[in-house]
Amino acid sequence: MKSVLKKLLDFLGVRLTRIDGIKRYDSDGMQTLHNHEFLDDPKYQVALARALMADPTLGFMTWRLHVALWAASHAVRLGGDFVECGVNRGFLASAIMKYLDWNSLDRSFFLFDTFQGIATELLSSEEINAGRLSFNKQYSDCYKDAVDNFSEFQRVNLIRGRVPESLSSIHIDNVAFLSIDMNSAKADVAAFEFFWPKLAPCAVVLIDDYAYSGFEKTYSSFNDIAQQYGVPILSLPTGQGIMLKGGSGTFLPENRAKET
Ligand SMILES: C[S@@+](CC[C@H](N)C(=O)[O-])C[C@H]1O[C@@H](n2cnc3c(N)ncnc32)[C@H](O)[C@@H]1O
Repeated sequence: MKSVLKKLLDFLGVRLTRIDGIKRYDSDGMQTLHNHEFLDDPKYQVALARALMADPTLGFMTWRLHVALWAASHAVRLGGDFVECGVNRGFLASAIMKYLDWNSLDRSFFLFDTFQGIATELLSSEEINAGRLSFNKQYSDCYKDAVDNFSEFQRVNLIRGRVPESLSSIHIDNVAFLSIDMNSAKADVAAFEFFWPKLAPCAVVLIDDYAYSGFEKTYSSFNDIAQQYGVPILSLPTGQGIMLKGGSGTFLPENRAKET
């Protein structure tokens, strides 16, 4: 008999099959035989359920969610606020807040979005040729839904407007976690450049579509940035990219008590 989790994952489009007794993960453009027991973690499952409450269409993103939760768990050990540029209905951000027990923390989460789809005038011809205009069919005016979705969490700021112009409309000076997910290379890079000087030591930047198939303009744009800033990007098989701000070297076991 199928477990409840297996049934849920089947429903979400995450296929778990066995080859020679080894469980295979197959979802979101990625197949692997490697360990994916994070799916069984009850805390992860609560976060996934909260993400699905925000947006039930993104259930195939289970490994991407795992990466985002890891990045957020790292960032919460640093001083600083959380920022996401490209929020839509809040799949990733809601899961992160649930996972971290947000209301018990003294942090703010700043959420930047038009809340009505990609600002298409910022798209390059390469992105338009890759079919990016059609992405807006999946986005509608979701501001009210987003406000309702995040209402259970404290210190959440929804900033409605176009990135990059909206970025300076609010004062934010110390950021531990930056998630960039606007499906628009120019806007994504502008968000990175705006927030990079404001990132705390060891802060994490999660670029949702860095290596995702069909997002070649995002890949080349962030590779230019990596070279310019001298900061390498970790390319993940989920399609995400990760950058870290230089640190002060405080992450030593003997300092752990002070950091948490
Ligand atoms: C892929 S969705 C974000 C998904 C979200 N991270 C989640 O967890 O569900 C991309 C979002 O970026 C927003 N967006 C695209 N271009 C933008 C821009 N220039 N300024 C602000 N928001 C933008 C769209 O409105 C859309 O909601």
